[in-house]
Amino acid sequence: EKAGYKHFMQKEIHEQPRTVADTITGFSSSKDEKLFEMLKDTDRLYIIACGTSYHAALVGKFWIEKFAKIPVEVDYASEFRYRDRIIDDKTAVLGISQSGETADTRFALLDAKEEGAKTIGLVNVVGSSLSREADYVLYTYCGPEIGVAATKTFTAQLVALLLLALETGIKKGTTTYTDYEKIHEELLHLPSKIEQLLQKDEEIKEIAYRYMNASDFLFLGRNINYPIALEGALKLKEISYIHAEGYPAGEMKHGPIALIDEKMPVVCVIPQDRNYEKMLSNLQEVKARKGKVISVATEGDRQIKELSDEVIYIPKTSDYLYPALTVVPLQMLSYHIATLLGKDVDQPRNLAKTVTVE
Ligand code: F6R
Repeated sequence: EKAGYKHFMQKEIHEQPRTVADTITGFSSSKDEKLFEMLKDTDRLYIIACGTSYHAALVGKFWIEKFAKIPVEVDYASEFRYRDRIIDDKTAVLGISQSGETADTRFALLDAKEEGAKTIGLVNVVGSSLSREADYVLYTYCGPEIGVAATKTFTAQLVALLLLALETGIKKGTTTYTDYEKIHEELLHLPSKIEQLLQKDEEIKEIAYRYMNASDFLFLGRNINYPIALEGALKLKEISYIHAEGYPAGEMKHGPIALIDEKMPVVCVIPQDRNYEKMLSNLQEVKARKGKVISVATEGDRQIKELSDEVIYIPKTSDYLYPALTVVPLQMLSYHIATLLGKDVDQPRNLAKTVTVE
């Protein structure tokens, strides 16, 4: 059942070219026009989720605000439920959940529905509670995810959110056909680009070996790749038990920079997008304090080699699609660090795949 892989997590990381492709196809073949009609009229969208799904939500906010021009607020479901949010008949709430059974997300969505919000679920498990409770449902097409750490469902959530943003944008007239076509085209190349990344398994394992004994890690990113820094840190801490923090790179000088010394590995998510120069100066700040820099950078970026201790190159893509690529080496890095440390990556201590209690 692990199809020759040592762990479900590894198998699921390697399934991503297919699950991403299936989610693109699945989205197009099950478009619910009523959903886009509803979103056209929406004044405010809350996206609620927990854990990895919450990080997908944070990326989704960038796309929905960019392409569909709907103001988006992202909340942890457990926080959303107990605060005074503003809901009227032009408010929509999107709950993202792999399992569709997470109590925090379900109950928060049900509360919002009762207050009159339109509700949407983005789930992986067909027929799950959330998919039955929401007014509209979108799916990721990943098949069962068994490893406790979410991997393939995260990249599929990203794809579904991007398609949702683009489709709403087209219907609403806030996205041009040229942009729509361009991003669609890039999206179709995503599976083969992920495939190329998966071939770096040995290289990433060697990096893992060099840093596996660190007691803390920092992950930095900016803009649309900031949530990827959060996700990289979450993956590492939950399966390797190494303390890790994700930070928006620009925020580093406001505190966390005090932590940096020669023992601190800092993973910099630094693709060649419009935030590159800013990210580069943050990276230099880390180097100046003797931090060990592990960069996730775009193929062909030569200067990054001189400034980093390690570089993992990812294929070039459009600025908007980078998160779906930059996260993959971070999943692989955590996987290798955890397995080299002898941890049970499929069943980390204290964690359950589905959290059905608040
Ligand atoms: C992280 C992880 C958890 C889940 C979270 C939400 O790898 O697996 O943080 O992402 O418990 O679960 P779902 O998406 O099922 O609601």
